[in-house]
Amino acid sequence: MLNEESGTYPLEPSSAEFRQLVDAAVNRIVPFVESLATQRAGCLEGGEALARSLSHGAPEKGTGMEELLDIVFDQAVPLAFNTASPGYLAFVPGGGILHTAVANLIADAVNRYVTVFVASPGMVQLEVNVVRWFCELVGLPAGSGGILTTGGSMANFSAVVTARHEKLPEDFLGGCLYVSDQVHHCVAKAAMLAGFPAARVRRVPSDKHFRMRLDALQEMITEDRAAGLQPFMVVASSGTTNTGAIDPLHGIANLAEAEDLWFHVDGAYGGFFLLTERGKAKLSGIERADSVVLDPHKGLFLPYGTGALVVRDPAALGRAHSVTSDYMPAYQADPDLVDFCTLSPELSRDNRGLRVWLPIQLVGLGAFRDALNEKLDLTEFAVDALRELPDVRIVAEPELSLFAFRLEPEGLTGEELDVLNHAWLEETNRPGRVMLTGTTLGGLFALRICVLSFRTHLDRMQMALEDLRAAALQVTAS
Ligand SMILES: Cc1ncc(COP(=O)(O)O)c(C=O)c1O
Repeated sequence: MLNEESGTYPLEPSSAEFRQLVDAAVNRIVPFVESLATQRAGCLEGGEALARSLSHGAPEKGTGMEELLDIVFDQAVPLAFNTASPGYLAFVPGGGILHTAVANLIADAVNRYVTVFVASPGMVQLEVNVVRWFCELVGLPAGSGGILTTGGSMANFSAVVTARHEKLPEDFLGGCLYVSDQVHHCVAKAAMLAGFPAARVRRVPSDKHFRMRLDALQEMITEDRAAGLQPFMVVASSGTTNTGAIDPLHGIANLAEAEDLWFHVDGAYGGFFLLTERGKAKLSGIERADSVVLDPHKGLFLPYGTGALVVRDPAALGRAHSVTSDYMPAYQADPDLVDFCTLSPELSRDNRGLRVWLPIQLVGLGAFRDALNEKLDLTEFAVDALRELPDVRIVAEPELSLFAFRLEPEGLTGEELDVLNHAWLEETNRPGRVMLTGTTLGGLFALRICVLSFRTHLDRMQMALEDLRAAALQVTAS
C-alpha cells in the first residue's frame, strides 16, 4: 500500500531509501572486513543454541534495517567456519572477493534475465565471454563452450548427464563410470542423480601418491566389458580434495581414447592453477578432456555460488539438456549467440556471468595469477617448515597448494597415533589464528592444509607454523 507520508510503496524504496539501505549494509561490511585479521578463523561452539535462538516465523510488518543488521552481523555471522579469514586453511577455501559482492548488487538491482539470449543479449554476452576465457584457459579448441553453475557439484552433474547421453543408449543402466578412490563425493552423487545404481560407479584404487592407478583402471574396464557392462566415462581429478593429488591425465586420456570413453576432469579445486606456469605443467593433459569442471568460488576466490563446466563440444551439452515449449522465445541458430538454458538444467537463475566478468575486468587476470603463485609459494614454505618439525611425516606431498601430514613419534602405534593427531589438530585450531581440518588416508588420520584464500599471506602461514609447533610440543609432552 502507498505510504501517504513518504509517497512510496514498501516494495519500491525511494532513491534515498535505497541508498540508505546500501550504505547501512556497507557500514557493517567494512568493519567486518577490516577486522578479519583479528577474528577467529573458526568459531564453532554453541551453534545449536544459536540456531534455536534465531528460529522465528515471518513477520507481518517490517523492522528497521539497523535492527536486522544487528541480527545478521552480531549473531548470524560470527559463529561459523570463518571462510573469509586469512587463517582459513580448511577444506578448500576461496575467501570471497568483494568485487563480486558489488557485481551481485548490480546484477540483482538490474535483474536481467540471462538464461535466454533475446532477453538480455548484452549480459548474456558478458557471460559467454567468461565461459570462453575458461575454455581458453583449459586449452579446449575454438568452438568449445559451457555453462556457469552454482558450484562444482552441479557442474559435475551436468557432465555425467552429458556423457551418459552421448555414450549410452536410452536404456543406460549397464553403463559404468570410473573414478579414483579419492574422487570428490559429488561425482558419486551426480551419478546417483543421473540414475545410475551405486555399483556402476567403479572406484579405481589409487597409488601411494593417491593418484588413479592406470593398470587397475584398464583391468576394471576389461572385466566390466567381459561381464557385459558398458564402460562410458572416466573422471580424473586434477587436485583431489583429500590430498590435492592429480590423476595421470595423459595416461587416462590415452585410455579413454582407446576405449571410447568420455574423458571428464574434475578441476574444481586445482583447475585455476592453469593460470600459473607451475600449475600448467602439472595439469598437462587437461586440454584433452571432453569436459572439465572449474570452480571460480575456489580458485578465483569468488564468494560461494559459482562453478563452471566447459566442454569440447557444446552441442553435446545441448543434446543432453535442451527441451523447449510453445511459450519460449525462439532459440538462436548461430552458435556465437548462446541460450544458456539449452545447455543447462536451469531456466530462471541468477546472473553468474557478471560476478566473474567484473572482477577480472577490474583487476585483470594477472592479479589472479599472482595470487595463485603466492599460494604455491606459501605451500612450499609451509611444507618445508613442517618437514623440520620432529616426528612429522608428510603423508601427501603438495602438487599445488594442498598437502597432508601427521605426527608419528616413536613408541606410539595405530589408534594411539590417530588420537594424538586429532589432539594436534584441536590444539592447533584452539588459539583461532588458523583453522585446519583433517582427513583419513589409507586408514590413518592426517591433518591437511589447503592454502587458497586470497587473504592468506606469509604472515598468516608463519602463525600457522607457530601454532602447529606449539601444539605438537603440547600433545607429545602429555
Ligand atoms: C575436487 C572437488 N570437486 C568437487 C567439489 C564440489 O564443489 P562444490 O562444493 O562447488 O559443489 C569440491 C568441493 O570442495 C572439490 O574439492
